[in-house]
Amino acid sequence: MNKLLGTVLTSALTISLLAGCGTSTSNKKKVGIIQFMDHTSLNEIKDSFDKEMKTLGYDDKNIEYTFKNGQGDTNTCASIANDFAGKNFDCVMAIATPAAQAVAKLATKTPVVFSAVTDPVGAQLTSSLSKPDKNITGTSDEVQVDQIIDKALEINPNTKTIGMLYNKGEANSVTNIKKAKAYCAEKNIKVVEATIASVNEAQSAVNVLNSKCDAIFAPNDNTVASAMAAYLQVANDAGKPIYCGADSMVNDGGFATVGIDYDVLGVQTGEMIERIVNGATVADTPVEQIA
Ligand code: TRP
Repeated sequence: MNKLLGTVLTSALTISLLAGCGTSTSNKKKVGIIQFMDHTSLNEIKDSFDKEMKTLGYDDKNIEYTFKNGQGDTNTCASIANDFAGKNFDCVMAIATPAAQAVAKLATKTPVVFSAVTDPVGAQLTSSLSKPDKNITGTSDEVQVDQIIDKALEINPNTKTIGMLYNKGEANSVTNIKKAKAYCAEKNIKVVEATIASVNEAQSAVNVLNSKCDAIFAPNDNTVASAMAAYLQVANDAGKPIYCGADSMVNDGGFATVGIDYDVLGVQTGEMIERIVNGATVADTPVEQIA
């Protein structure tokens, strides 16, 4: 009698242990994260995303993150994307445009959620913001470029020429510079451009701009944002104010901006990812601008 009871108890225990084990592995969400590079704003987005996921109840018992930094290099981003292709992620998160473009090809199998992509349509991540059609959605940090130019004109109404500093390899900047040039044309402001492909080129590019402009406009360009320290001094020495595309760039020494709160964007991205890993479809998850 006793022996029988013992056997029954043991097997019941085994079954529940196995069930417990099975449940915890299958419920653990797996998210791959690629961040284009380190700079103040992208790090802020990542931190606020992490905090939001904790607030939503995620910790290492129910979610597993694989985090990779692209070091500002598109080749590095491409090899991270290849590595991610072999993993069974529930969702891939991409911070900034070049990172999102690198992992876009994974969307055939895995939903991709981006954060802080300025122009998701221009970057060819989706054909529509309201109806994502490529299994890619996320949050956008569209910049009010005209308000930034207006700020420059308000502070110095004698601004006749604005120098624009950007990396033309960044789709986000191509969009913003196009908008800025159109607005300057409307306001009869002359534009001179200096493009850079890497942080090392920033200082000499600003030297060239200094001799030709009254103020500098640096959009929320990742390369330009990460090079603030390299060109700030030469712009300051020449007395050229740097109008920036993001608050972080002003924190890093730029003159002024009209921008958004990237903490909020990180929170919104977290909320979207939690919906997607719990079964929401990308097609039903429109791209969000700052709330
Ligand atoms: N919007 C940029 C992109 O689409 C990313 C970004 C977020 C950024 N915050 C920034 C770039 C601040 C420069 C400065 O890639």
